[in-house]
Amino acid sequence: MKLLVTGGAGFIGSNFIQYMVKKYPQYEIVNVDALTYCGSTDNLTAVEKNANYRFVQGRIEDKAFIRALFEREAFDMVVNFAAESHVDRSLEEPGKFLVTNVLGTESLLEASCRYGVKRYHQVSTDEVYGDLPLEARAMRFTEESPIRPSSPYAVSKASADLLALAYHRSFGLPVTISRCSNNYGPYQFPEKFIPLIISRAEKNQKIPIYGDGQNVRDWLHVADHCSAIDRILHDGKPGEVYNIGGNNEYSNLELVALILEKLKKPESLLTFVGDRKGHDRRYAIDPAKLERELGWKPSYVFAQGIEDTLRWYQENAQWMEKRLNGDFQAYFAAVYPEL
Ligand code: NAD
Ligand code: TYD
Repeated sequence: MKLLVTGGAGFIGSNFIQYMVKKYPQYEIVNVDALTYCGSTDNLTAVEKNANYRFVQGRIEDKAFIRALFEREAFDMVVNFAAESHVDRSLEEPGKFLVTNVLGTESLLEASCRYGVKRYHQVSTDEVYGDLPLEARAMRFTEESPIRPSSPYAVSKASADLLALAYHRSFGLPVTISRCSNNYGPYQFPEKFIPLIISRAEKNQKIPIYGDGQNVRDWLHVADHCSAIDRILHDGKPGEVYNIGGNNEYSNLELVALILEKLKKPESLLTFVGDRKGHDRRYAIDPAKLERELGWKPSYVFAQGIEDTLRWYQENAQWMEKRLNGDFQAYFAAVYPEL
């Protein structure tokens, strides 16, 4: 079995490759990644010497590169993680998101059709459903919820999902899609909320809270996301969408208070800043289909998952420092002028 993983040098992709390399030593796993600002082969040092793993640098929207790769490698399965993934950056440069997330996905779908891939899996997000009101706590996104993306990032991911479904319907490509809630865990770039809180709290720096901090997210440990994709890749039904979530909702203020308490840092670090444009109020995923049809369940309890995560960032302070230097400083100054 030969598996192509794209975007495998980023947060979730690198966790997925480490999981798959160990679980399926008989598979040949090829990682294609452009190594943008958030991707690094450092994230894969644990597996880089494994005989069943290889890295190839390249961009998924580069059709000549992708076609030649597929022709040469004859992949059986493809899992596409490669993406521009940060909402705030999509508000600054929407076009970049369309190139990677939409045209890049189309390039992979086309090559998958042309070279007879047996399973194409698109890694998507709950953000394609837009948001839910804070007041209606019983409402959650199911696979039937309308596609109503708010940010340019979410629009690009929704477009990619629709393209993947069109390749299934029109050309018979065996496609599956997963839509996951917010992930946390090791190797997450510090532009995202949890590693941003950790990196700033450790240095007693102000922590930016957008708007009133009441926005709610449903947090899932990245290892549980990986096990869900594994299950869908092997047992999911072509043409189907599966929601992945942890039944684990926190408001941003609750989340930051919990992390600060575990780090023994004062809540006075919290600093309210202007709200994110179009900021989605609440995400909540109903994962019942995945649990019922494929027998998946998350294995992490949040209290344990977040403690393991805090420990990982503490033990890997150099990993974090490397990401906080250079371009990140300019990015931070532009997004958080108040701080
Ligand atoms: P990330 O930003 O950490 O990693 C993205 C990776 O893609 C990086 O290694 C980057 O170098 C690579 N990449 C970017 N553009 C590329 C291109 N044009 N060609 C090849 N490689 C390219 O993102 P992540 O958080 O690991 O997210 C991975 C996937 O999971 C994304 O598709 C994202 O939409 C989805 N997702 C993320 C979350 C989350 O909470 N982080 C939740 C649900 C779904
Ligand atoms: P983020 O990690 O960017 O994920 P997403 O927007 O895809 O859910 O943000 C998670 C939540 O945290 C979201 O409601 C925005 C909020 N947030 C802040 O309040 N301050 C910040 O500096 C960041 C990055 C996020």
